Amino acid sequence: MVRGSSADNVVPLRGGLPASVAHAAAVDPLGDPRIVVRGSGPLSGRVHVPGAKNSVLKLMAASILCDGATRLGNVPAIADVSIMGELLEAIGVTMTWSGADALQLDNTGRLTPVAPYELVERIRASINVLGPLLTRCGEVRLSMPGGDDFGARPIDMHVSGLEQMGATFRFEHGYVEARADRLHGADISFEFPSVGATENLMTAAVFADGVTTIRNAAREPEIIDLCEFLVSMGARIEGIGTGTLQITGVERWSLRPVEHDTVTDRIQAATYLASCAVAGGELDLVGARGEHMQMLLHRFGDMGLDLEQYDGGVRVAAPDRLRSIDVATLPYPGIATDYKPLIITMLSVADGVGIVTENLYPGRFRYVEELQRLGADVSTSGHHAVVRGVERLSGAPVRAHDIRAGAAMVVAGLAARGETMISGVHHIDRGYDDIVGRLAAVGAHIERH
Ligand code: UD1
Repeated sequence: MVRGSSADNVVPLRGGLPASVAHAAAVDPLGDPRIVVRGSGPLSGRVHVPGAKNSVLKLMAASILCDGATRLGNVPAIADVSIMGELLEAIGVTMTWSGADALQLDNTGRLTPVAPYELVERIRASINVLGPLLTRCGEVRLSMPGGDDFGARPIDMHVSGLEQMGATFRFEHGYVEARADRLHGADISFEFPSVGATENLMTAAVFADGVTTIRNAAREPEIIDLCEFLVSMGARIEGIGTGTLQITGVERWSLRPVEHDTVTDRIQAATYLASCAVAGGELDLVGARGEHMQMLLHRFGDMGLDLEQYDGGVRVAAPDRLRSIDVATLPYPGIATDYKPLIITMLSVADGVGIVTENLYPGRFRYVEELQRLGADVSTSGHHAVVRGVERLSGAPVRAHDIRAGAAMVVAGLAARGETMISGVHHIDRGYDDIVGRLAAVGAHIERH
């Protein structure tokens, strides 16, 4: 029996979420909204790029490590933040919105190390509570994670790394149970630079006995953000931003709560770049971090986009017609798999033929059928998609199957003649902070019903 797992110990959900986020989190499939996009262009103006989903969720999970009030800024108003907040509330950390983009997480240290199915199945990043709970509570019971619908997403690297640090695991009835009286440092080599496994081992190592080395660690900007957050709390991490992270365990009392601004979302930034690319015009993406998107910006340049990076943003001007390129997804600093639906959408109206190779998730092409409904000429085979550009797409009803595929449908709608009606909008709400308002403000014909 896991300590404190009785229903009596579960802290009830407290209020304080902005209405838009609370609404987006409470998805009623029958009342699911629609986004309607009409062929648009040219776009013009400034778009403020919000904080990164893939960072803030990890920062929130890591707040479990530290008693007191953690304050996060530049937080996107997205449904996944709200779901992670509910999960933390169930564990014993209270979340309150303290501004439009600011959160406070209050941790009294009375934690219930159980992550229930109802919450975990809704969000893949719930796996990130594993490391912090295990190292703080000595045990954890976590439902196997769900999240986006793109093929099997195992957690064997998380498990094997924590085992090397002294944890023992049991898998039963859809739950993972882990125990470790005190984790110890270990020298761990990853076969593949998994983002989630790097984050879990890093947070678990913060209180472990001795030094933990993670080789072939992930190097994404969101990992760096988490490292900087942990270091400002008092953790000892070396090698930040490299493939070898070295974490020296510290005592629990030496951590103190901090204020931290979430890194800007490179995937949302790419979504607005892609929008401008297909609709035409010029945009100024305020807050975009060009240095986190170097490879992508380089390839977008090859497609004909005129890009200018400045301190605090990226400006883009679209060409008359995009040029096709070949692209392969890779771990950072390569082209992220999350950009791929956007790239395929851009290629579907580009001049020429482009081949896109997926190296991370073989099954991640489901949205291609939706693009075909809009008249895109795309064929897939195994890890590859061949995209033959057409002059213009043609609007139709389509479905968002996951967050990024949903964003790609919005971009496709901008490039299509007539009306594109997108269902499955709750997927888009999981990762996009008011995509409709941001695009409408720069001239796109887009509404939410
Ligand atoms: C994170 C991002 C996701 C992004 C992905 C890759 C979040 C919430 N999600 O997901 O948007 O697409 O990084 O950049 O931050 N794998 C294993 N065993 C493991 C762990 C992973 O086989 O123990 C495999 C996965 O199935 C997948 C690949 O490794 O094929 C990438 O996974 P990982 O880097 O861990 O991605 P996530 O952290 O799940």
